[in-house]
Amino acid sequence: MKYLKECWYMVGWADDFAPETLVPFTLLGEAVIIFRKSDGSFGALEDRCCHRLAPLSCGRLEGDDVRCMYHGLKFNAQGACIEIPGQDRISPKVRVRSYLALERHSAVWLWMGEGEADEQLIPEFIGINHPDWAMLPGQMDYQAHYRLINNNLLDLSHLTYVHNAADSFAAEDQWALSKMQVQQIPRGVRVGRWIESARRPGILGQSDEITDHWSTFDFLVPGVFLLYIYVFEAGTAARCNRQEPPADLPPLRKTFTCQAVTPLTEKTTSYFFAVGPNAENADKKHLFLQMTKNAFAEDQQIIEAQQKCIDRSPGVAVIPLAMDQAVMAFNRMFDELIAAQAGQGSHLNFKEVVTDAVHQ
Ligand code: FES
Ligand SMILES: [Fe+2]
Repeated sequence: MKYLKECWYMVGWADDFAPETLVPFTLLGEAVIIFRKSDGSFGALEDRCCHRLAPLSCGRLEGDDVRCMYHGLKFNAQGACIEIPGQDRISPKVRVRSYLALERHSAVWLWMGEGEADEQLIPEFIGINHPDWAMLPGQMDYQAHYRLINNNLLDLSHLTYVHNAADSFAAEDQWALSKMQVQQIPRGVRVGRWIESARRPGILGQSDEITDHWSTFDFLVPGVFLLYIYVFEAGTAARCNRQEPPADLPPLRKTFTCQAVTPLTEKTTSYFFAVGPNAENADKKHLFLQMTKNAFAEDQQIIEAQQKCIDRSPGVAVIPLAMDQAVMAFNRMFDELIAAQAGQGSHLNFKEVVTDAVHQ
């Protein structure tokens, strides 16, 4: 089993889906079409007509229904065939798979599981219309296995080396040297660390400013990254004994990014992200997005090169080190979820394993 299916996957930013348009998307190796219904909500069907297997993405949206433009079968948003030209009786077997698609936090999510969808499991993004934040969205595609991208996000020690350009917002030795605090949370891990007396300012700081940064992220199943960076005056980390700062200690500034890693096929992956400062620093949002895109181009270069290296190294194992603490904790949980899914396919039992996995 290559993929975890009992979860929500991000398939795009809501604004990217135009009305009256069938959008083809390959997700976990399955070809689907996604479309807006007349009330603005979303529908999704498998991209294969059950008659003679023509793609429905070559079809036509008629209201909330999809007509295959090979021989004219029409399917409703639940996947049932509701019209066969020249034939009165329609067997209930004439249908295509439908998927639950929802808009939440400016993004569109697809439930890929066989079990009942749980809307509580949609991650807490800060959407691009949130009044307290100045978020901008982006997307890129990787020629790499999704787990290489997950691992990159789970271990931010790479910032020191991958993002080492003088004008990079992350060019600090401390990303590799500082001690991280890892804890397991439901369906994920939480990782915090201090970057002290940052020589370069946080991306929203003044050029001569020295500050302490508390970075904290949650990485959640199946590949969702929620990162806050709080900028404090220098000396704050020491005053906090290098522990998490108290919630009532106001930062000078803060930034947020939400990111979602979505497997398309075994070695192609889509990567959605939104980044932004708090609303008071909205004038910096385009700068922040550009710096982020520059950084992600650096990630893409090393990860796609890593994929090629792995491809020519069959059977060669990796060597986990201290910096991989969060990588290992998350991957162990992820593997247990995939094993549970392959084992019995019962959503109820699957949920029990989820609970076990996060409490060990
Ligand atoms: S293949 Fe779709 S109607 Fe025939
Ligand atoms: Fe990176």
